[in-house]
Amino acid sequence: MTVKATEKRPYICSRCGQTFTSPEALNPVRHNCAKWNLGKEKHIPKTYTDHHLAELIPRRDKVYYPQSISDSTDIEILKVAIENRLNILLLGETGIGKTHCLRHLAYQTKLPYMRVNLNGGTTQEDLIGQWIPKKNGHGFMWVDGVLTRMIRYGGLFVCDEINAANAEILFILHSLLDDERRVVLVQKDGEVVKAHKGFIFAATMNPTGYEGTKPLNLALFDRFDVILEFKNYAEKFVSSDMREAVKKIKQGVADGSISGAISTRGVKQFIRNRKIFGLEVAKSIFIQKFEGIHRETVEHLLDTIC
Ligand SMILES: Nc1ncnc2c1ncn2[C@@H]1O[C@H](COP(=O)(O)OP(=O)(O)OP(=O)(O)O)[C@@H](O)[C@H]1O
Ligand SMILES: [Mg+2]
Repeated sequence: MTVKATEKRPYICSRCGQTFTSPEALNPVRHNCAKWNLGKEKHIPKTYTDHHLAELIPRRDKVYYPQSISDSTDIEILKVAIENRLNILLLGETGIGKTHCLRHLAYQTKLPYMRVNLNGGTTQEDLIGQWIPKKNGHGFMWVDGVLTRMIRYGGLFVCDEINAANAEILFILHSLLDDERRVVLVQKDGEVVKAHKGFIFAATMNPTGYEGTKPLNLALFDRFDVILEFKNYAEKFVSSDMREAVKKIKQGVADGSISGAISTRGVKQFIRNRKIFGLEVAKSIFIQKFEGIHRETVEHLLDTIC
């Protein structure tokens, strides 16, 4: 058979073997590739079946004990916040479960999850995107930043330690977090990227006073629709012999007589250290989390643990 020069060669999907006449149709989402979806269906809810970021939906999760907040729990409140596309801010001391809670939420709601630490070194390009040289050396191509990708395709975007970020980074969030819910890619061609219906913005923040943090600009703070403060470590980790000591340390931290933080992370570390190093070493490691004269008080309280 002679093939005419004008005849197009077929494009074959390497996964399912279907043939197409255009290379664009090879995109597994476009032709709803049966093999590409294999094993993923149960993780992708109906609204996200055409999701570009499906690989970011958490597949596994560690146990999470919800925090009680008023007459509800953090998870119940945040699920409603997600359904209503509200901006979320979680406040609380280090190790209290803010990040774990958000990841757990992404796992439960089957949302793609992206977490970014906004330290002083994060640039606008990292979040929004930039022009990079093409591989073939001819010209440049635009690559979306991590935030723009999420805005375009949807998912739970988590800004960890938002009050450690530079002001210029935080200002780009203003139009995204108000009713406009969009960003303008000024460096590209002025493209306006409207937030996907599955895009949720969440941030976490330690109280100010932590090294490198500052109070959040009021205009930005005001854009968070749901602000929850996490105050309690997860008591489920605390065994009965530890309960009294941990409770007293927490009281001491709360009334200012002990300087340091008692967190779920700290409690988990203590339990693990007790298992692998023994009680005495675990205690001496634990007291390092408290400052100066307070160490002795904590040590004394821990002595009730056997
Ligand atoms: N409610 C909880 N249930 C189960 N594990 C928890 C809970 N809260 C915290 N943890 C565990 O404690 C550790 C610290 O949690 P996480 O990293 O979420 O704290 P954080 O509040 O984000 O701290 P930081 O401000 O330092 O980022 C993790 O190992 C996490 O799994
Ligand atoms: Mg965190």
